[in-house]
Amino acid sequence: MKTNVQWDESVPAGRDFGDRAVVAAYDEQHRRFRDVDGENAAILARLDLPPDAVVGDFGCGTGAFARAFARRCGTVYAIDVSAAMLDFVQWKAREEGLANVVCRQGGFLTYVHDGPPFDAIHSSLALHHLPDFWKQKALDRLAGWLKPGGQFHLMDVVFRTENIDANIEAWIAQTAAQGGPEVGNSIRSHVGREFSTYAWIMEGLLERAGFRIDSADSKGGVLANYYCTKA
Ligand SMILES: C[S@@+](CC[C@H](N)C(=O)[O-])C[C@H]1O[C@@H](n2cnc3c(N)ncnc32)[C@H](O)[C@@H]1O
Repeated sequence: MKTNVQWDESVPAGRDFGDRAVVAAYDEQHRRFRDVDGENAAILARLDLPPDAVVGDFGCGTGAFARAFARRCGTVYAIDVSAAMLDFVQWKAREEGLANVVCRQGGFLTYVHDGPPFDAIHSSLALHHLPDFWKQKALDRLAGWLKPGGQFHLMDVVFRTENIDANIEAWIAQTAAQGGPEVGNSIRSHVGREFSTYAWIMEGLLERAGFRIDSADSKGGVLANYYCTKA
């Protein structure tokens, strides 16, 4: 029997990405402490997809990844719970002449995919909006929409257990130095209020969803990249 109890994805775990002012400021703020173009180039190189590939970007935000992939792939589904984020993605895609970005409002737990199965799914800094119980359900759903042998790239805040407190403090100090005190404070609030989890839990969740973890790296013991294949 399937439970009909559902997590409410419309309630933000941290910052309210439905707020248009937050959306407008997002890229400028993130580019102060992230090399977003470098991240996307590395993911593109690693996934090495054919030109007709169908790709999903879950929790796409302002769509930097979705738009970078749309320049190289067949179709990119940009999926997010926030209508304000998707309006921004649509506007940017139009401005950049990208007709192959399909914007769909929905969450990990509520999105219904009616297109072709994905060759690859990417998700960065979004899965931590769900508690672990719901992360498992989300990962099960993502695996179900991938082609057999399809690839999944996950980037998120994932904690290694060794030196955890020192690593968190170092991360807050580093992002504050790069992005200013409000960025440091947003990281502090993230750790205190959002649902980032431990690497050993995330890896168990991925494996139980039917993914083989091909590689895992950790930046500072707080940020992880997982490249996985649907087994
Ligand atoms: C920190 S932003 C990350 C955006 C982008 N992926 C990036 O790397 O910059 C988190 C995004 O996840 C979205 N989000 C939050 N909860 C979600 C859910 N349950 N399902 C899908 N997207 C969600 C938010 O609306 C927001 O756009």
